[in-house]
Amino acid sequence: MKSPLLLVGILSLVVVPFALSAVQAPGGDGKGAPAAAQGRAPGGKEPVGLDGGMKMLQGGLKRMQGALAANDFAQIAQIAVDMQRGAGAAKTETPWPAEKMADAAQKAEFVKSFRLAMIDLQRNLLDLEVAALAGKGDDVKKIVEEKLKPMRDAGHEKYNPEK
Ligand code: HEM
Repeated sequence: MKSPLLLVGILSLVVVPFALSAVQAPGGDGKGAPAAAQGRAPGGKEPVGLDGGMKMLQGGLKRMQGALAANDFAQIAQIAVDMQRGAGAAKTETPWPAEKMADAAQKAEFVKSFRLAMIDLQRNLLDLEVAALAGKGDDVKKIVEEKLKPMRDAGHEKYNPEK
């Protein structure tokens, strides 16, 4: 009667770590767990780098107009999540003006302040998601007009100035 028990023991040694690795699969490359398990919309693409993140943010603001006009709060919440992913992809990158800075301390400070500005953007995008889930259209509009757009404009002035 020992061998069935032994078999169960061996099987659990193999199956449990495999199951855990599926749950813990990192999001990003689309090669591991299914999209939903990685926190992506079905078929959604992962933004890559600063440029990819910014394009995702831009696409979100564009889709927002239609979603707001239709009072489609599920769509607004999805846009907020997509924009969070865009900001998340961008924030650990180096904005191009930093590459021209010879002074290492100045460069480090610039890169850090960029990251902090992107984190601030992420916080506002979380507020946007909360407002969408609560179905508060006025709050959504306020966050878009009074937070996201001014943050974009100020961010571009400092970190993506006219060349
Ligand atoms: C909702 C907010 C934002 C939107 C919609 C947005 C949109 C964009 C777009 C469309 C581009 C041009 C991308 C391309 O090359 O095709 C861009 C570039 C850039 N943005 Fe933003 N942005 C936002 C917020 C920010 C913030 C907060 C910062 C800084 C703290 C920032 C920093 C930059 C930088 C550094 C680039 C140049 C990227 C590169 O060199 O490829 N952006 N952004």
